[in-house]
Amino acid sequence: MNSFVSSKFRYILSVLVVLFMVVSCVSTSGTAKESGEELVYQNDFEKDALGWGTRGSETVELVDKAGIDGGQALYVHEREKTWNAPFYDMTEVLLPGASYRIGVWVKFEEGPQSSGFNMSVQVDNGTGMQYVTIGGGRVPKNYWTYMETVYTVPPKADPNSAFLNPIGFYIETPWKPDESIQPEDIISFYIDNVTVSKIPPAAPAAVETDIPEFSSFFDFPVGTAVNSQYLKDGHKRHGLLRHFNAYVYENEMKMDAMQPREGEFKFANGDALVEYASSQGKLVRGHTLLWHNQYPSWFFTDDEGNEVSKEVLMNRIEAHISTIVSHYKGQIYAWDVVNEVVEYDGSLRNSPYLSIIGSEEYIALAFRAARAADPDAKLFINDYNIAFSGAKQDALYELVKRLKDQGVPIDGVGLQAHINMGHPTVGNMETAIERFASLGVDVHVTELDMSVYASENEAAKDPGREVLLTQAYKYRDMFEMFSEQHAKGNLDMVVFWGADDGMSWKNQPGRPDYPLLFGKDLQAKPAYWIFADPARLPINIQVRDSNQAVDGVSGMDDPIWENASSYPIVGRDGTLYGSFKTLWDDKKLYVLATALDNTSDSSDEIVFYVEPRNVKADERTKDSIDVSVSRSKADADTGESYTVFKALNVEGILDAKVGFDVVVSDNGSVHSWNDFDNLQEDSSINYGTLCMKPMPVMCTAKRATGNIRIDGRDSEWGDITPVPMEVETQGYTLEGSQFRAQWDDNYLYVYFEVQDSLLNDNARDPWEQDSVEVFIDQNNAKTSTYEPDDAQYRISFKNFVTFNGGYEDEFMSKTRVFPGGYAVEVAVPLKDVSPEVGLLMGFDTQINEADASGVRAGIRNWVNDTNMGYQDMSGLGVIMLVE
Ligand code: XIL
Repeated sequence: MNSFVSSKFRYILSVLVVLFMVVSCVSTSGTAKESGEELVYQNDFEKDALGWGTRGSETVELVDKAGIDGGQALYVHEREKTWNAPFYDMTEVLLPGASYRIGVWVKFEEGPQSSGFNMSVQVDNGTGMQYVTIGGGRVPKNYWTYMETVYTVPPKADPNSAFLNPIGFYIETPWKPDESIQPEDIISFYIDNVTVSKIPPAAPAAVETDIPEFSSFFDFPVGTAVNSQYLKDGHKRHGLLRHFNAYVYENEMKMDAMQPREGEFKFANGDALVEYASSQGKLVRGHTLLWHNQYPSWFFTDDEGNEVSKEVLMNRIEAHISTIVSHYKGQIYAWDVVNEVVEYDGSLRNSPYLSIIGSEEYIALAFRAARAADPDAKLFINDYNIAFSGAKQDALYELVKRLKDQGVPIDGVGLQAHINMGHPTVGNMETAIERFASLGVDVHVTELDMSVYASENEAAKDPGREVLLTQAYKYRDMFEMFSEQHAKGNLDMVVFWGADDGMSWKNQPGRPDYPLLFGKDLQAKPAYWIFADPARLPINIQVRDSNQAVDGVSGMDDPIWENASSYPIVGRDGTLYGSFKTLWDDKKLYVLATALDNTSDSSDEIVFYVEPRNVKADERTKDSIDVSVSRSKADADTGESYTVFKALNVEGILDAKVGFDVVVSDNGSVHSWNDFDNLQEDSSINYGTLCMKPMPVMCTAKRATGNIRIDGRDSEWGDITPVPMEVETQGYTLEGSQFRAQWDDNYLYVYFEVQDSLLNDNARDPWEQDSVEVFIDQNNAKTSTYEPDDAQYRISFKNFVTFNGGYEDEFMSKTRVFPGGYAVEVAVPLKDVSPEVGLLMGFDTQINEADASGVRAGIRNWVNDTNMGYQDMSGLGVIMLVE
């Protein structure tokens, strides 16, 4: 096997192999029935539509030769409302209280390029009819797409009632009020092969007792939030406590719990915690002495219900804190003295403390009272949304600095770190830790959890393997950073806001979350195994774009291949075995694969596997194809490597996803792009995924002929062709702005000329100031969360730079104001790829336009008009490095 890959590149690849994460498109894969599940209903519509009917005026009927296997399908047409749908009464199938996996295939042929579809039920458990969307997804036109969901039927309201509760199942398009319905909202569609499997009741949750303690992987304390019940031996969560060496109460040391009535202190729960912790040799954090939530109702009012005076409130604060802190003197490692005192916009929180006392003096008072009561306890200020830069982080930084300057006894800053998989990035958090540590205080991460949702409003989702792996990789990168920061003396402790997903405060009714190390079944998740034993992780599904070649591809030498990204084939151990590119048109999937192999022998071959409908099943579907090309038939062979071109018979459909894998065989040893178990012949469960996308908007960067001085002047840019920025993403911006790009071995250089006669940087948030941004996705994986190679750099017209990911130390920029606008020259470090001619990277540029008052009035981009680039790389254009 060949090993001429440079060590830098090899390192990069080993990083990339695990970072090439999913998510640039949602998988519509349909797993087959899993073990233990019992098929309780199926209709492939080959015989009849038995029981399937309508919900309104629509028509539902069987249609010949329309089905997924060429047979019959159920067709719904003449729909007038979004809820007109094929309907089936499942009263005898879906039993109250039980859980089911429901699968259905959907296809449509008219109207929009793609459409959302919902799987819904109408159910009455005795409390009235409820209409519930239980699953769904996006379906590209003309493409049979599998949708699957897991649904738990509500238990009967009256458990003694002998009747089965009526429940009906249907497939509809997303709801719209009648008066705003457009033809695309009521398209006709087909469904086929509906299956329902009963999921056996979950085994009772049990803690694994034979796995290493999570905290043993780190040389700083790692803690968890707990509730007092867990401390008792028989509690089902008790066994999780050993994974942590610090504890904090989730609620039981908050103000309302500690002093429910004035002067009446409740110490029993706190006593139990400090006692348990000390018996185990573990640390305790106290949370929290002062907060604007969970305070006792009497705290701010007198007996008549009137607001108390400043003096009374100061006395109450002082009494509350001194009584509690002195009670636990010597037993609590660190106290969150005040919690969440700064607002998002950087002002002091408008709490009763501030309004009654009138200034931040109450904060100083709280810290002084705590110090007097226990001089050895570490005293913290704790807050959320400060692990990334912005007005709130700035304000907290300034506040802590001010308090220290005034001699207020403050020892530390707690970053709550309720984060999600996309935001903030590990780099954002690293910057925050370093920034607060630079004030000479301790830094704790105090309430770490990682939601699988990007926002409060995102719909419930199934935490499939892709999601759990994405989460695991982010936890790994984050803890690597934590270890480095600990070694530098910047970080002292990390505490999770709970151990298992079942107890997380992130769970919402109807929308469970999965933010922690252990699952609802109390078993260790990938986020644990990635530290303990990465070999136990399931194989990741890599998801990559395949771009459309509208005029087809003539062969290996077709210049269109330059526009296709090359994806490395990297083994489990990080060795590079080759690479491949793909393109598609409506009839074919074109593949071009290179194997690195300098020992030619007769069994050398490359095999392509495609599962056209991306079912990802234990047994691959019948329409799957595999095509092998032996080295003797290669289109090119240098002796060091050989390359094969193939046009596979796969129908290309915009936005469709296909299961895909490439296997390189070298004298008996077999290396796969995705399925490291090499079971592609039998099972598609570990195929990667290709998403059929249009050809992205592209531009080029020329290789720099000499040194580029970053001086904001155009001396080295004269003969570079400018690229106009014409996408008006938001509001008002001037026409005529442009950028140019060059590259060398270390940097991508970008030179902006922005048309803007009124420059303003009054806003606190940097994105509101007149500024430009560069988005870069070095490995061009176009993931919808940031990977370590992804970054956003923002440079104001005054050269104030803000980072979202990226390389702060190496980045360089300079700006220059000219009549009618400003120029920005930047050098963006290329550290995750080897820059060379032909390299494609995800790329975009942006202009933020501030109006006279300092508010952002407009956004202009080169490509992406979503304004989501700060967390999602999937909408970027592509920049190609050329000579
Ligand atoms: C949360 C608890 O987890 C919930 O159980 C409770 O209902 C509300 O408070 N920031 C904090 C914590 O400082 O105290 C909060 O804890 C989560 C946000």
